[in-house]
Amino acid sequence: MKNKYILLSLLAAFALAACSTGAAPAATPTPDPMILQGQAVFNARCATCHALVPDTIIIGPSLNGIATRAETRVDGQGAEEYIMMSILRPGDYVVEGFNNVMITNFAKEVTSEEMNALVAFLLTLK
Ligand code: HEC
Repeated sequence: MKNKYILLSLLAAFALAACSTGAAPAATPTPDPMILQGQAVFNARCATCHALVPDTIIIGPSLNGIATRAETRVDGQGAEEYIMMSILRPGDYVVEGFNNVMITNFAKEVTSEEMNALVAFLLTLK
């Protein structure tokens, strides 16, 4: 019985800790190594065509806010799946006003770890 109380108070302490980090301003995210890796992959492979600032077209559309937009792009696809498909099979859904010129051999060029990091990074762009 005593153990149960200890467990409960531990849980309460964790919940409080989670709340206080949740209250931190969104502008200062903790640098998650996986996200940083994803950002590096993006800079190396995607930034030539995609800006991250709003309304800026390089060759492809700006990916500012992609995590939010991705949820509504294709019926039945969540944000993660849409982003993944956009990278692996960019011809499946072509953004209006753009040509389907994205490279399609990306899957062969990066490790699955890099791919997961890249998607995790893009999912932070709300
Ligand atoms: C040669 C230029 C080019 C490169 C390199 C490129 N893209 Fe694209 N990308 C485009 C174009 C053009 C579109 C719009 C047409 C389409 O939907 O395929 C696009 C569309 C997208 C979309 C869909 C955007 C939306 O609003 O729905 C995502 C996500 C995306 N690219 C991610 C990436 C990622 C991640 C990389 C790096 C692995 C990458 N792109 C590399 C040109 C490029």
